[in-house]
Amino acid sequence: MCTFKNILFLVLHILGESADLYRKAGTDLTIQCKGTSPKDDVEWKFKDNRIARIYNGRKLRGSIYPSGSNKYHPDTDSLRITRLESSDSGRYFCSHGSEYNVHVVSAFVQPGTVLPQSSDAELHCNVEGDPKADVTWLRPSDGQEYHERKQKVHLKSLTLKENGQWTCQVQGLQINITLTVVGLQTTEAVEVTVGRNVVLPCSLPQITSRRVVGGKWEADHLPEVSSATLDNTQKTLQWNGQNTSKVIFTNGPLSINYDIKLTKVQSRDAGRFVCTVEFDGGTKLTANTTLTVVTGTSGNKGSSSMNGPTLKWKGPLTKDVLGLQLWIWIAVGASSMLLVVVIIAIVLVQGRNKRMKKRVRQLRSMRQPLTAVDYCHCDRSEREEELVKQVRPGPVPRHQRNINKTKPYN
Ligand SMILES: *[C@@H]1O[C@H](CO)[C@@H](O)[C@H](O)[C@H]1NC(C)=O
Ligand SMILES: *[C@@H]1O[C@H](CO)[C@@H](O)[C@H](O)[C@H]1NC(C)=O
Repeated sequence: MCTFKNILFLVLHILGESADLYRKAGTDLTIQCKGTSPKDDVEWKFKDNRIARIYNGRKLRGSIYPSGSNKYHPDTDSLRITRLESSDSGRYFCSHGSEYNVHVVSAFVQPGTVLPQSSDAELHCNVEGDPKADVTWLRPSDGQEYHERKQKVHLKSLTLKENGQWTCQVQGLQINITLTVVGLQTTEAVEVTVGRNVVLPCSLPQITSRRVVGGKWEADHLPEVSSATLDNTQKTLQWNGQNTSKVIFTNGPLSINYDIKLTKVQSRDAGRFVCTVEFDGGTKLTANTTLTVVTGTSGNKGSSSMNGPTLKWKGPLTKDVLGLQLWIWIAVGASSMLLVVVIIAIVLVQGRNKRMKKRVRQLRSMRQPLTAVDYCHCDRSEREEELVKQVRPGPVPRHQRNINKTKPYN
């Protein structure tokens, strides 16, 4: 029985027409078993291996379709194959004579979709089971045809021209793949005030499919910036070296940011700094940044030479945003205020002085009768009185003094 069926398959295979089907990887495919009725006994095979046998409404799984697998959905009249992969390419038979040659087409970039500038890449539009199939590539910038029609295109030394969406066209299929070409990012010109700290930027916009294996900073005028290098010999990428009094390197694992920090920048630190990052495969990227050191802004100088109160008023205000004009106006306003305050103060002080004088005069006129009374109470001669006045050193209370001094004379 089994041999008979195999012979039947073989005969059908030779006689029956075989259809070539091209499908994108990841999609589902349904193939028909022509001329069957629901009650028929149908067997599905893939490359001579049984997927399933269906009879009397029962399904018997074959060796390549174990229970738990959702790959196939066999029926009497059709077979659905889900999520096509390259390995699903090949010949499918149904026992009633239908035969299909399935080619799964997949497109991808090697070694990955995000690659550093000037590295190499391979574009693949793989037509499984049909290596000779002509492929048309549409390039990113203008969507025009690329000159090569191979399933594998070698791109050398990538530039931004290769960045973007590539389309592979084959047998009526169209598959888009995106190639991202990245460079090192920096700020071309960095300006800093003398004495301040500054960050020299150097980073990748995203993680690339090529590993960073090394890198460094260099400046002819400041060899210290090379005191650490990027190192990937431990499991993580990190700066290997020492901070100096001038240059600070980030501690710990790095990913895409290779900034360094210069501390207390001096005029002699100004100049060109070059950041280099090296990828596996040997590609090196560099980024240049030029540091300019300025000796304090004019705004700062002006304010520091101004007098105290004005600075205090101005300080918390928007020092940098204010234009010179406005700033002068504020200074003039503050000075006028100060003048007014001073005048008012003078007037007040004068008034107070007048009042004080008046009161002093009043006090005197009140004290004289008092002292007179005081002296009147004592019963002393002119001489005694003089003596008391002479020996009168203050701190002793008056009653005591009077008693003490008067006693010996009594
Ligand atoms: C591929 O890209 C083209 C152009 O952007 C677009 O028209 C087409 O729909 C895309 N195809 C797929 C399958 O995404
Ligand atoms: C360098 O200085 C930074 C900031 O002070 C610090 O976090 C880091 O650990 C230092 N790195 C080394 C290697 O000493």
